[in-house]
Amino acid sequence: MSRPLLEVDHLVMNYTTEKGDVSAIQDVSFTLNEGESLGLVGESGCGKTSIAMSLLRLVAENARFDSGEIRLDGTDLLSLTDEEMRQRRWNDISMVFQGAMNAWNPVYKVGDQIREAMDLHFHPRLSNAEVEARISKLFELVGLNPAMMNRYPHEFSGGMRQRAIIAMALSCDPKIIIADEPTTALDVIVQDQILQELKKIQADLGMSIIYISHDIAVIAEVTDKIGVMYAGKLVELGSTREVFARPRHPYAFLLLSSTPSVTGPRRKLAPLEGEPPDLLNPPTGCRFHPRCPYATDQCATDEPPMEDAGDGHQVACWNWKEVPELGGLTK
Ligand SMILES: Nc1ncnc2c1ncn2[C@@H]1O[C@H](COP(=O)(O)OP(=O)(O)OP(=O)(O)O)[C@@H](O)[C@H]1O
Ligand code: SF4
Ligand SMILES: [Mg+2]
Repeated sequence: MSRPLLEVDHLVMNYTTEKGDVSAIQDVSFTLNEGESLGLVGESGCGKTSIAMSLLRLVAENARFDSGEIRLDGTDLLSLTDEEMRQRRWNDISMVFQGAMNAWNPVYKVGDQIREAMDLHFHPRLSNAEVEARISKLFELVGLNPAMMNRYPHEFSGGMRQRAIIAMALSCDPKIIIADEPTTALDVIVQDQILQELKKIQADLGMSIIYISHDIAVIAEVTDKIGVMYAGKLVELGSTREVFARPRHPYAFLLLSSTPSVTGPRRKLAPLEGEPPDLLNPPTGCRFHPRCPYATDQCATDEPPMEDAGDGHQVACWNWKEVPELGGLTK
């Protein structure tokens, strides 16, 4: 068994707003082992980016950590000083930000922008020639011609800009990369190429990766484990194979059964009706209860804890045993 590298332990984070608290992360726990890849999936607004930003401690100013720990190699990142955290950011954990491929500064060459990031963060400091050699190697790794480092962002296609973003995220040799919707804006073929390359890079470098996506089918092939989020909560966590074969949580079940690439093009099994709740005022009990076809009275009042559903699979639902087998239904 590989070693736990990152342990998120009962994390609670709220955004303070004029209208009240937005409950963006509610009691989330998971572990990322060395060399492992974990996918976090869920609808827009369920808290995926909030978790990612928390891991780097780059949350918005109005974010407030109320309880829990984020331990990296046993050290709670939330207890570090700003300077200690700065040392760890990019070197230990780095990130491919949501939408970052469109955030290149148009007036500087791409290689110079990566160089600047390395100057700020990489230790030990490298000479100019060493930095250049490193960027050149990183470009090869992500499938870019090293000569492209002397080009401007507008000379790159969307896929190339995203590859360069990945090169930048790799530049300080992190132990963990968080990739927030890394391929969402790209066409399906480029999306697939980039994910396969990330998978290979991860294996070659022995890194751990957290993939974030609203589309469970997209990250299925590149993850070992999947965590399904709903309204600020992690509601199911298990090996990717297990979650696909037999989602236990009603939300995960409905999400998967309404994903055509999972069930086959002509089989939409059960619709996922309604909208996710407003996190300023989340539902009591189980946050999914207003939309859940399996809800019982208890669900409206009592918050279900994560419990073991066998094979290391965890689920937060009072009635998970009632959820049918997806695999059985698709035959
Ligand atoms: N700075 C902020 N202040 C108040 N609320 C915020 C802030 N940032 C995010 N939120 C809210 O927190 C919730 C979680 O947002 P988050 O961006 O983490 O979701 P997400 O799962 O990444 O969504 P998407 O798939 O659209 O990227 C949402 O309700 C969002 O509106
Ligand atoms: S706890 Fe109840 S409302 Fe929540 S997912 Fe399970 S059955 Fe549905
Ligand atoms: Mg997001």
